[in-house]
Amino acid sequence: MPQPQTLAQQQPSMLARLMAGIAERHPHITAGPIDDAPSPDEPGHPEFHRRRRAEFALTRWRAAAPQRYQDATATHPAIHTWADAAARDITAAGFLVLTGPVGSGKTHQAYGALRRVAEAGPKRFEMIAATAPDLYGRLRPGGSMQGTEADLARLCRIPLLLLDDLGTEKLSEWTEEITYRLINARYNECLPLIVTTNYPVRAAGQGQPDLVTRLGDRLASRLAQTATVIHIDGPDLRRTNRSSA
Ligand SMILES: Nc1ncnc2c1ncn2[C@@H]1O[C@H](COP(=O)(O)OP(=O)(O)OP(=O)(O)O)[C@@H](O)[C@H]1O
Ligand SMILES: [Mg+2]
Repeated sequence: MPQPQTLAQQQPSMLARLMAGIAERHPHITAGPIDDAPSPDEPGHPEFHRRRRAEFALTRWRAAAPQRYQDATATHPAIHTWADAAARDITAAGFLVLTGPVGSGKTHQAYGALRRVAEAGPKRFEMIAATAPDLYGRLRPGGSMQGTEADLARLCRIPLLLLDDLGTEKLSEWTEEITYRLINARYNECLPLIVTTNYPVRAAGQGQPDLVTRLGDRLASRLAQTATVIHIDGPDLRRTNRSSA
């Protein structure tokens, strides 16, 4: 025996009646898939999350960059290549060594490289940037950092490290050992290191100072394997850009 229908079953639903009305009045409108995928401005879209990571990274970059280099932008194509590789995979970029005479723009390019990494919105952005004399001064027993070993370990592990003006620190057995441990640890962990220096990697003439002599063969060998070396030549911009304070 057929079951009696409920009132709801007997009456077409309001939605069904509405749809029937639309179909009757506007036969050219057909039902289609609704595009509810997020746009780049909405959470859920990879570009939205990349932008959020970039904002966060740039805040960290601004906190670490000195006032003079707050507008630093890398202009060198090889530095762009290095920074883009570092943003994609921090362990694939290798070292970046910027050599050149006083005032040619090495530090500017180095901070610019780090800014470019930040702007790409990498998964993790942590950086320490300091001149070699400042860093070693802070690391020294009695310096402003606490516990040399723990601080050195942090410098060895931080994703991005800029060692500015390498070679201007006063040489001693202690600085030699710290430099060796720092560079060797980062080399072993495949972590990048940006170095700026006035020394050429290899001096043109015998007896002239160069990075290889300063660091020794063991570190020079590690640099030779992993470093992108870029020579930033040019006049002393501090003298030519006097008006920019
Ligand atoms: N591309 C640039 N655009 C604008 N200003 C720049 C640029 N490059 C460098 N400068 C400015 O020129 C000056 C010298 O640059 P920077 O400090 O980077 O030189 P350096 O090569 O690191 O010098 P040093 O060997 O003495 O450390 C700085 O005031 C810097 O802000
Ligand atoms: Mg400099």
